[in-house]
Amino acid sequence: MPSLRVDIENTKELVTDKRLQAIEPEILNAKKQLDQHTGPGSDFHGWTRLPFQTNHELELIKEIAAEIKDSAGSFICIGIGGSYLGAQATISALKGEFYHLQSPQPRVHFAGQHLSSRYLEELIELIDFRNVYLNIISKSGTTTEPGLVFRILSQKLVAAVGEATASRRIIATTDKEKGGMRTLANEKGYRTLVIPDDVGGRFSVLTPVGLLPIAVAGIDIEALLAGARDMASLTRENSLEKNPSLLYAAVRNILLRQGKVIEILANFESRLHYISEWWKQLFGESEGKNGKGLFPAAVDLTTDLHSLGQLIQDGPRNLFELFLILEENPTQLTIPATTDNYDGFNYIAGQTMAYVNHQAYEATALAHREGGCPNLTLFLPQLTAYWLGQLFYFFEYAVAISGYVLGVNPFVQPGVENYKTNMFKLLGKPGF
Ligand code: PA5
Repeated sequence: MPSLRVDIENTKELVTDKRLQAIEPEILNAKKQLDQHTGPGSDFHGWTRLPFQTNHELELIKEIAAEIKDSAGSFICIGIGGSYLGAQATISALKGEFYHLQSPQPRVHFAGQHLSSRYLEELIELIDFRNVYLNIISKSGTTTEPGLVFRILSQKLVAAVGEATASRRIIATTDKEKGGMRTLANEKGYRTLVIPDDVGGRFSVLTPVGLLPIAVAGIDIEALLAGARDMASLTRENSLEKNPSLLYAAVRNILLRQGKVIEILANFESRLHYISEWWKQLFGESEGKNGKGLFPAAVDLTTDLHSLGQLIQDGPRNLFELFLILEENPTQLTIPATTDNYDGFNYIAGQTMAYVNHQAYEATALAHREGGCPNLTLFLPQLTAYWLGQLFYFFEYAVAISGYVLGVNPFVQPGVENYKTNMFKLLGKPGF
């Protein structure tokens, strides 16, 4: 089976064969804890079975998505963190930046991912509420950002189409019985999709949280699951050579032990921007606890070579990079020659832009290695639903292993509560 490929050649100064051999037993012990569900947080290992799901909810997702595609002008997903990033990442990667300008029906929008009233007001002005569907996505059903935004948008919808039609146009993706959103959905008769108890927010892209918006955008969710399934099968391998997820987890822990406390995910394809945002949440929230963890940062290249590139090349040597590289040439767009060669670029006339972009990657990887920033590369053969499925599962498996090797429970997020408590106090919430 073809799979994602990890190349660690540019880490060899620090990631020696000896260090890889030394860490392997720790990695395999973590793997046992994960596979046998004996590690901390094992009640949140439900994401490991998601690629194999064949439940009736998949059919329901497809049915609702077909209805929305047929009848909606706009589809607004309201959620934050794990309740929006997987869908945003997949849709941006597979549909591109100009997706909305090409006017597909319906347009997929995201809201509730922050508290900007300007953003919300602009969205409200753009939307014709007579033909909108809302998808409120919240596992707890109590999160402030989506909760407040849902209040505002659902009232607009009711005002435009009346209570009965609005209830038909609202899909609530939430817990099967707990939380305010479940109570409201039952009361109003919204259709609901269930987020399994044993799947945490940042691991939920392959639940209805991600699958409904992704299906509404016209992306093949079966292909996404097939990719994840193939990667899940590969993660059964018990060696660093055969299991790329284990190798990645091993390398990042070795580098951390050498003082590389910041990991930068670097892409050379602008469509991958939100994949990095999804990855930052997955790794930051899973590993950063009890004074431990790597800081996950991200850059879009070559754009950021003209800004953060200076620091990566020449700043504090406490970082390493993971390049996410697309192997396919996405287009054959070619650089034209000019008669006067006014800018001196005739030497690459006739080459494709993709070729130049690839050379930029090779040049950067080498320069950063020479500058003391070790880097590894994850090769993604194509930008398709299948390969994104492999990618999601690859990272989820790696973060679980990596978290166990670090000695943390990767499936809890106690730190995100602190700001909320302070905010509730300041807002005057009863009981705070
Ligand atoms: O990964 C997580 O658990 C979090 O990022 C949640 O996804 C985020 O806080 C949203 O929570 P909820 O779905 O309960 O609104």
